[in-house]
Amino acid sequence: MHTTQENRISLMPMDLELYGNLVDLKSSAEKYYPDLQKILSNPKTMNHLKYMAHLNEGGWTIDQVQEREKKWKEGQRKGTDLHFLVHLKESGAVAGTCGFKHIDLMHKTAEFGLIVHYPFWGKGAAAECHLLALEYGFSKLDLHKIRFETFVTNVRMRRFYENIGIQLESIAKEALFEDGHFVDNAVYVLFDRDWPCIKEKLQEKFRGQFQQGNPPATL
Ligand SMILES: CC(C)(COP(=O)(O)OP(=O)(O)OC[C@H]1O[C@@H](n2cnc3c(N)ncnc32)[C@H](O)[C@@H]1OP(=O)(O)O)[C@@H](O)C(=O)NCCC(=O)NCCS
Repeated sequence: MHTTQENRISLMPMDLELYGNLVDLKSSAEKYYPDLQKILSNPKTMNHLKYMAHLNEGGWTIDQVQEREKKWKEGQRKGTDLHFLVHLKESGAVAGTCGFKHIDLMHKTAEFGLIVHYPFWGKGAAAECHLLALEYGFSKLDLHKIRFETFVTNVRMRRFYENIGIQLESIAKEALFEDGHFVDNAVYVLFDRDWPCIKEKLQEKFRGQFQQGNPPATL
């Protein structure tokens, strides 16, 4: 695949939507910025991402949310990012945000990350975000390797990956500075050849969580 600007635009259109059973991934829209503001400012949701939660200033302002979304959209226009809001299918409520950054179509690599609001933890939203986005990454963007980075202390994220067989590649020592300390980053990786097997495990995990009942319909 040639990495022309045209095929970047066709692979990463600004209005790309991916539909699941529990959640839909949609490009962000201004009317949802207050929901996103609430999620990004929540101390429980952002416990392992304190450095970006603006907790000392009382959380994110709407202008900061707007600026964040603008940067994501610029990246998407350039073909380096692919960004979504996570909506509950039934109610449309915003349950989080996810996306790829550092997309490199020439070397077929990208990094994926997500933030799911705490009321929706353990209910299948994170599993389905991965199912939808990673399928798009491997089958449409033709990626070979997807990277996931998280603080070594983020047990939920680390167990999520480890329990479905996503491999730890390395620990990046003292990669981030938070609360006056340097913190190590755990780097997990998934190759296209392993995706069919990991996808099955993710589907099984999702089915188990989804069958346990519906998540709250609103924030
Ligand atoms: C990280 C995140 C996406 C995971 O989604 P989730 O819905 O909470 O994940 P799940 O409940 O499906 O999986 C978490 C796993 O950790 C396990 N777990 C949770 N707390 C644990 C603990 N203290 N010790 C051991 N395992 C634990 C759960 O049992 C579950 O295991 P399973 O896969 O066998 O079911 C979500 O919690 C989140 O968005 N958190 C806030 C933002 C964030 O940290 N994002 C990642 C930044 S890199």
